[in-house]
Order: sequence, then C-alpha cells, then structure tokens
Amino acid sequence: MTTTGVTYERTGEAGRRLDALARVYQEVYAEPPYREGPRDAADFRVRAGRQAMRDGFRLVLARDGDELVGFSYGYRLPADTGWWKALEEPLDDAFAEENGRRTFNVAELAVRGAWRRQGIAAAMHRLLIADQEAERITLTVRPDPEAAPARTAYASWGYRKVGRARYGDGHPACDVMVLPVPGGPATGP
Ligand SMILES: CC(C)(COP(=O)(O)OP(=O)(O)OC[C@H]1O[C@@H](n2cnc3c(N)ncnc32)[C@H](O)[C@@H]1OP(=O)(O)O)[C@@H](O)C(=O)NCCC(=O)NCCS
Repeated sequence: MTTTGVTYERTGEAGRRLDALARVYQEVYAEPPYREGPRDAADFRVRAGRQAMRDGFRLVLARDGDELVGFSYGYRLPADTGWWKALEEPLDDAFAEENGRRTFNVAELAVRGAWRRQGIAAAMHRLLIADQEAERITLTVRPDPEAAPARTAYASWGYRKVGRARYGDGHPACDVMVLPVPGGPATGP
C-alpha cells in the first residue's frame, strides 16, 4: 500500500466528524499498550467534543479515498492550565508560565494499522503545527515498549522529554515532551 491516494484536511472544528474519529480511536487504541475498549472510545467522544471547544483547536484528518485512516488534533493551553503543575519534578516557573498563546498541546495522533509506516503521522503532525503562533508544542507519550512507534516518531521530530506526569486519576504516568516551534524563540526547561 502506498500513500499516493491519501489526502489531508485541516480544520478548526470537529463537529460532525466526532463519530468517525471515535471509530478510528476505538480501533487504534484497542492495541497494546492501551488496550482500551468501547467505553473508552465513548469517553473519548465526549472528551474530544469538549477539547474541540478549546482556543486554538485544530484537527487534521487523513483519508484514503473516502475512508478515514488517521487523525490528529490539538489546542492551545490556557493561561491557567495545570499541564506543567502535574509534572512529578517541578519545572522552572519561567518555563511553566502560560499566557494562552505560548503552548500548543497535541492531544491525539492516531493512524490505523494498515496505513502505518507511510509517513501519514508525520504529514498530519506537520500540518497540525504549521503556522502556529505558539512558541512550543507539547504532548505526552506512554513509556511502555509497545508505544515505541510513537516515541521514536516524536524523538525523530525533535521532541525532548521534560518530565513525567499523570493526567487524571487512574491514568498511567506518561512522559511529557516538548518541541520548540521551528523558527520560534528558544525555549527549554
Ligand atoms: C504512532 C503512530 C501515530 C505513527 O503513525 P505512522 O503513520 O505509522 O508514522 P509515520 O509513518 O509518519 O512514521 C513517522 C516516524 O515514526 C517512527 N515510527 C513509526 N512507526 C514505527 C515503528 N513501528 N517502529 C519504530 N519507529 C516507528 C519512525 O521514526 C518514523 O519515521 P521513518 O518512517 O522515516 O523511519 C501510529 O503507530 C499509531 O497510531 N500508533 C497507535 C496510537 C499511538 O500510539 N498514538 C500516539 C499516542 S502518544
């Protein structure tokens, strides 16, 4: 299979696409290390609906013909975010300071199994972060060996780990990663 037929759409609203996103989510996150089920996909549907209302929301969809094969979305962290406070080891106040425009959070990135290793995630990520006013991008990734594809991708795109955090009760600890926006001001922990 090649990426020849894959097309990308970038939009600022999720709207009627949420059900399709949830179907892809359920398929992708059934895999280890996530092993999520239909209930998690239903939770995702609700969460995604809320996240789509956030400032700076941006969604990228990848389609092969009419078929949705991957998606990625994110939004800007608000000034009063608890994102950095959740880190096990506190970061510098100056680094953790937010003003609602400083940081774009990539909340989801998923590509269906049959369409992997063709650069689709890389293309979606490029589109997601293109022309961002933010000075840095952040995301989380599971430390488990099965999440190696995601961790390898983030490392190759220039993300660096700034710490570990658990976002929400019952959620696993994740590595928190940061990528300075190419061409933006230097930023580091
Ligand atoms: C992570 C994921 C989105 C990557 O999607 P993809 O379209 O296959 O990724 P790409 O083809 O764009 O690959 C980008 C880079 O990722 C890395 N990568 C991807 N799959 C990999 C694998 N199986 N093993 C090692 N590295 C891998 C490589 O560095 C690759 O670049 P290269 O092909 O030039 O070597 C996909 O595997 C996925 O949906 N996984 C399950 C959900 C998930 O983990 N999402 C991230 C949550 S934090």
